[in-house]
Amino acid sequence: MGPDAIYQLLRNLTSPIVAVTSEHAGKRNGMILDSAVRASIVPTIPRLSVYVHKFNLSHDMIFETGRFVLHLLREDQLELVHRLGFTSGRTQDKLADVPHRLGRLGAPVLDDCYAHFECRVANVMDTWSSTSFLGDVTDVGHGAASAARGAVMTAAYFRSHMPTAWRRDFEEHLASAQQFAAERSRDIRAVVWRGLKA
Ligand SMILES: Cc1cc2nc3c(=O)[nH]c(=O)nc-3n(C[C@H](O)[C@H](O)[C@H](O)COP(=O)(O)O)c2cc1C
Repeated sequence: MGPDAIYQLLRNLTSPIVAVTSEHAGKRNGMILDSAVRASIVPTIPRLSVYVHKFNLSHDMIFETGRFVLHLLREDQLELVHRLGFTSGRTQDKLADVPHRLGRLGAPVLDDCYAHFECRVANVMDTWSSTSFLGDVTDVGHGAASAARGAVMTAAYFRSHMPTAWRRDFEEHLASAQQFAAERSRDIRAVVWRGLKA
C-alpha cells in the first residue's frame, strides 16, 4: 500500500475538531486540532492528550505554562475553525473578537462551544516534530446555556463541509506541516516533564 493510501486510512483515527486555547505572559491564543483523544478510563482521573506541532505558537505557550483548554465545537462553528486554524497567533490576535473569559487555570475559556475541558499538563512525549501533551482535566463546562445543542464537529464533517474558498489554503497548510514533520520526525527524544522531575 502506498503512503497516500496509508495516510487516508489513518484519517479514520482523527479526533473531532477541537479548539485549544492557551495564555502566556498576557498573550491569549487559540488553535485547531484533530488529534485529541481520551487518555484515561477512570472517571475520577479524567485525562486527554493532544499532538501539537512545534511550529505552532500554541506549542510554546502550552509548553511554557503547562496548561490549556480544549473545546469541543459544534458543526455550525466552521468560521471559528477558519479563524483559529488557518493563521498563527504570531501575526494576529485571533481571540480579539471571540468572546471568552480566563478559566480557573488562567487559560481562555470560549463562551461558545459544545463543551470545554481545562487541563493541566501531567506529562509530555516529544515526537521531534510535535509534542504530545497529556492533560489532567481539572474543570469541565458547557458553553452558553444553549451551546451544547447540535452535533460535535468531526474532522470528516469539517473536510466535507468547509467552503470551497478555504480548500486551497487548507491543503497548502497541510502540505507545509507534512514537510516540516517529514524533516523532523525521525529522531524521537524523551523529555521528562518538569512536573515529574524529582
Ligand atoms: C482541521 C484542522 C486540523 C488541525 N489539526 C492540527 C493538529 O492535530 N495538530 C497541530 O499542531 N495543528 C493542527 N492544525 C493546524 C493549526 O491549527 C494551525 O497551524 C494554527 O494556525 C496554529 O496556530 P498558532 O500558531 O496560533 O498556535 C489543524 C488545523 C485544521 C484547520
